[in-house]
Amino acid sequence: MKTDRRKRGTKTSSFGSPGRINHDSTPFYTSKLYEGLPQEQKVKYVENPIPSQFLDKIFSKSSENMEELPDNSVHLMVTSPPYNVGKEYDEDFTLKDYLEFLKRVWKEVYRVLVPGGRACINIANLGRKPYIPLHAFIVRDMLDLGFLMRGEIIWNKASSSSPSTAWGSWLSASNPTLRDVHEYILVFSK
Ligand SMILES: C[S@@+](CC[C@H](N)C(=O)[O-])C[C@H]1O[C@@H](n2cnc3c(N)ncnc32)[C@H](O)[C@@H]1O
Repeated sequence: MKTDRRKRGTKTSSFGSPGRINHDSTPFYTSKLYEGLPQEQKVKYVENPIPSQFLDKIFSKSSENMEELPDNSVHLMVTSPPYNVGKEYDEDFTLKDYLEFLKRVWKEVYRVLVPGGRACINIANLGRKPYIPLHAFIVRDMLDLGFLMRGEIIWNKASSSSPSTAWGSWLSASNPTLRDVHEYILVFSK
């Protein structure tokens, strides 16, 4: 007997990646893999207006406190945060203090975003001896605050950067080290 796949729909398969027609992914999203992670929930949609005196303004202050913006009032936040690498606008924080500073900002972003609002964070990893995977620490902190991760965009900067491997001494590859030719744009939703 012929099966009508349009009516029945596909399911997440135990192996490989087959077609997706009217796909039922419930088994995947209810699997143990998702236990303990923030999950999408049905919530009452609330959007509060931003007072008109605060629209189209630049506030020269820290984003740790955005008291001008009501809760649930912003649809999109895009940032390239300070890197703490000694630029003019940088502090000289320890990694712990730096991540705590950023987390205060992410918490405030969570407050001001509407349900389903997006937060996009442009970040590069730092150093080589050893390499500091800032993006991994930021993803952890964002999940910790209840954000849902929606994906990551790799910004390929290869065409404008120098070769991607440093070999150590001349003719002696004693400590080969990768040089990044990319940055991340991490995408989250509330
Ligand atoms: C990596 S740069 C991003 C530059 C930006 N993409 C641009 O093209 O102008 C980091 C920026 O964060 C700003 N900044 C530093 N500390 C901040 C804070 N506490 N709150 C908000 N912005 C801050 C700096 O002034 C700097 O402009």
